[in-house]
Amino acid sequence: MMLSLSSSQLYAEAVSRLTQAGITNAKLEALWIVEETLGVNRLQIHTNSEDLIDSETYHQTITLIERRATREPLQYVLGNQEFCGLDIVVNPAVLIPRPESELLVEEAVALLVEHPQPFILDVGTGSGCLAISIVKALERAVMIASDRSLSALQVAKTNARKHGMDSRIFWLAGDLLAPLLSSGLAGKVTAIIANLPYISHNEWDRLSPDVKDFEPRLALDGGPDGLDIYRRLLQEAPGILASGGRILVEIGVGQVDRLCREVSASSVFEVENIQPDLQGIPRMVCFRLLRDA
Ligand SMILES: C[S@@+](CC[C@H](N)C(=O)[O-])C[C@H]1O[C@@H](n2cnc3c(N)ncnc32)[C@H](O)[C@@H]1O
Repeated sequence: MMLSLSSSQLYAEAVSRLTQAGITNAKLEALWIVEETLGVNRLQIHTNSEDLIDSETYHQTITLIERRATREPLQYVLGNQEFCGLDIVVNPAVLIPRPESELLVEEAVALLVEHPQPFILDVGTGSGCLAISIVKALERAVMIASDRSLSALQVAKTNARKHGMDSRIFWLAGDLLAPLLSSGLAGKVTAIIANLPYISHNEWDRLSPDVKDFEPRLALDGGPDGLDIYRRLLQEAPGILASGGRILVEIGVGQVDRLCREVSASSVFEVENIQPDLQGIPRMVCFRLLRDA
């Protein structure tokens, strides 16, 4: 059924609802949602005053607007996020890829580009954004992507198919390196890429509702000081890494000194490289295995 409502009137209603809900970028976000549901661009929204909206499209648009009005992240509402130039499908089963995580991709590619056939593990793959971006850039790489969350792995597989990388990635479900340790892969892995949960309990209390109430806690909570899962990873990793193998991890604000001090004290790995993000925060650390397990 057609309603007596044009696309620009629908847009005005969307802006009004988001503004009332206190969404800062109400105009822009309303525009993106209306563009998506109507399948038109911003110019057409304002010029198609004769074209009326059917009731199904109206309800579909208002449903998305209402979801955003509850502070659900726009990326979940629209179902995608751009990462390393790729359109990545997201839903509440996975963390929304963050721009600072592109640093892990850049560093992994720079480290492994000359390797004849790097064998890489992306542990805690979530949406698969890191694994897919890295295998796309490294033609000879063999990639294993793992996660504890089966629903996250479903999203990652969808993304790999979407970007033509499904035949290049092997998927494993389970806790950290357990599925690899039981798969006869000891001593085979060239590099582990890990953007695992690193939010401390103090930080958790200060997270914005958009993150805390909607993104999966399994993707964020790193224990009391945020480093629990990385400590376990560093303990397990010598069991699967090849000689001189690397671990590249993404860390949070204020974590670099503690993590590097602990790792150096263990004498199993050395700190090879620390890279800041675009805000100057140490964000990526690369550890190199000094001895075999
Ligand atoms: C911070 S998210 C990162 C997702 C993705 N790598 C990215 O960069 O956007 C962490 C991911 O690790 C997974 N995870 C958390 N604990 C895990 C564990 N013990 N073993 C395997 N995966 C785990 C979560 O399910 C989540 O998908």
